[in-house]
Amino acid sequence: MMFKGPVRRSLRRLCALAVVVFLCGGGLIWIAPSWSMDRYELMQILRTIPPNGPVEHYGNTKLRPPPKKGTMDPVYFPHWRHRAQYDCRVCHLELRFSIYKGETRITRKRNLAGKYCGACHNGKTAFTVRDKAQCVRCHNRDKYALDEAFAEFAEDLPEADFGNGIDWAQAVNNGDIDPVHSLEPGAGPVMQLPEKLKKPLELGTTAPRSGILFSHEDHMGWLDCSNCHPDIFDIQKEGTQYFSMASNIYGQFCGVCHMRTAFPMSDCHRCHPEMKNHKVSGGSY
Ligand code: HEC
Ligand code: HEC
Ligand code: HEC
Ligand code: HEC
Ligand code: HEC
Ligand code: HEC
Repeated sequence: MMFKGPVRRSLRRLCALAVVVFLCGGGLIWIAPSWSMDRYELMQILRTIPPNGPVEHYGNTKLRPPPKKGTMDPVYFPHWRHRAQYDCRVCHLELRFSIYKGETRITRKRNLAGKYCGACHNGKTAFTVRDKAQCVRCHNRDKYALDEAFAEFAEDLPEADFGNGIDWAQAVNNGDIDPVHSLEPGAGPVMQLPEKLKKPLELGTTAPRSGILFSHEDHMGWLDCSNCHPDIFDIQKEGTQYFSMASNIYGQFCGVCHMRTAFPMSDCHRCHPEMKNHKVSGGSY
């Protein structure tokens, strides 16, 4: 050995310290040294990604509490149950549900008039908002009520490491699920993607090495152009202001969906193919 006694000991301590610093800083993911963003700053931001949590609750949205406190229990809306049968545009375009939590004025009156939840929960498409015995299926204090149903549902679907543990993109590609694009019977095909948008866009305006390709095609199976343009993204390439990884993690831009319903930001690899994710055991977010 080259080093002896105290020198060796302090070297060993130094190594241990370096490992600790690396593990604390890079616990979530493996970081390539070539990134342009200040590493400390990035770590601070990555820490704000919500911790891993129970898979069955990812994408369950607690709706705006009823105006009169104490009259009815709160409603947890399970995205997983619905998105297997309907794509996002059915609700977030046709039925005019906002994609921002708490913005839609869903009321009892509107539900009874066949709007919002009542458009389907009418006793034909799904259980009705009128049946007293079934109020509790929506107004349910117990947010674990659907956990078992979820486990059963997820069993046969392709797995993902994050979010609700389901790889939804693959589930559609495999034909495991086949969400409809409209509630109108016999509605025509969804808007075709213009030829020039079929080639993925290179994003990463603020940091050239982030290596992001954004595919319109990956999204057209679920969404309408107006779900993203013009509210979330400018329709001109590189026209979107303040677009960065930090703002994604704070729930803007890609993070509008990819922090709440679609696979979350912790799944770096799916957007940055050259990055590795830290291995997690079991699905989590
Ligand atoms: C059956 C209807 C329905 C479908 C299908 C649906 N959503 Fe939603 N979504 C809702 C409702 C209702 C809300 C809550 C709106 C509110 O609070 O104003 C919501 C809220 C959201 C939110 C905000 C959640 C939060 O916690 O802040 C996001 C993001 C979202 N939806 C994305 C999607 C995406 C992406 C899809 C398709 C994969 C989708 N939704 C499919 C009904 C639906
Ligand atoms: C398909 C789901 C669903 C079912 C079933 C349902 N509700 Fe609701 N209800 C909602 C949603 C969503 C809201 C609006 C968000 C909130 O107030 O929590 C709401 C709101 C309400 C409100 C709040 C007051 C108002 O006017 O907005 C009352 C009262 C209510 N529902 C009563 C009932 C009763 C009684 C039943 C059963 C006969 C029932 N609901 C069944 C989803 C449902
Ligand atoms: C586009 C149609 C559609 C809309 C809109 C819709 N649902 Fe549903 N929902 C369904 C279908 C279909 C099912 C599953 C079939 C069933 O259980 O009857 C379902 C199931 C559910 C379940 C699962 C209940 C259980 O016991 O398994 C809940 C909770 C629920 N919906 C709440 C809501 C709420 C709250 C809204 C409004 C914010 C809403 N849904 C809007 C179609 C819809
Ligand atoms: C849903 C897609 C998505 C996921 C998941 C994702 N990123 Fe990004 N990331 C982006 C986009 C888009 C940009 C480019 C933003 C721009 O134009 O600057 C970016 C940029 C970056 C940058 C360049 C710095 C910057 O602010 O532009 C870094 C570093 C980065 N991401 C790290 C990560 C890490 C680490 C993870 C996992 C914890 C991750 N990303 C997960 C979409 C994603
Ligand atoms: C999931 C979100 C999303 C959906 C859905 C979406 N876009 Fe985009 N679109 C983007 C993003 C992100 C950019 C890049 C913006 C930037 O660079 O500032 C973009 C850029 C564009 C551009 C500029 C491309 C270029 O090369 O100059 C056009 C045109 C466009 N979108 C049209 C559409 C049309 C038409 C649809 C529906 C068929 C659509 N988009 C659906 C997210 C989306
Ligand atoms: C309006 C909602 C929405 C926005 C905004 C959005 N996405 Fe998505 N994205 C989805 C949904 C829904 C899927 C289907 C997969 C899922 O739900 O996990 C998807 C799928 C993807 C996939 C395909 C994954 C695969 O395995 O095939 C990538 C990559 C992706 N998004 C990247 C991005 C990037 C990068 C941005 C920002 C420039 C972005 N998305 C913005 C909703 C959105």
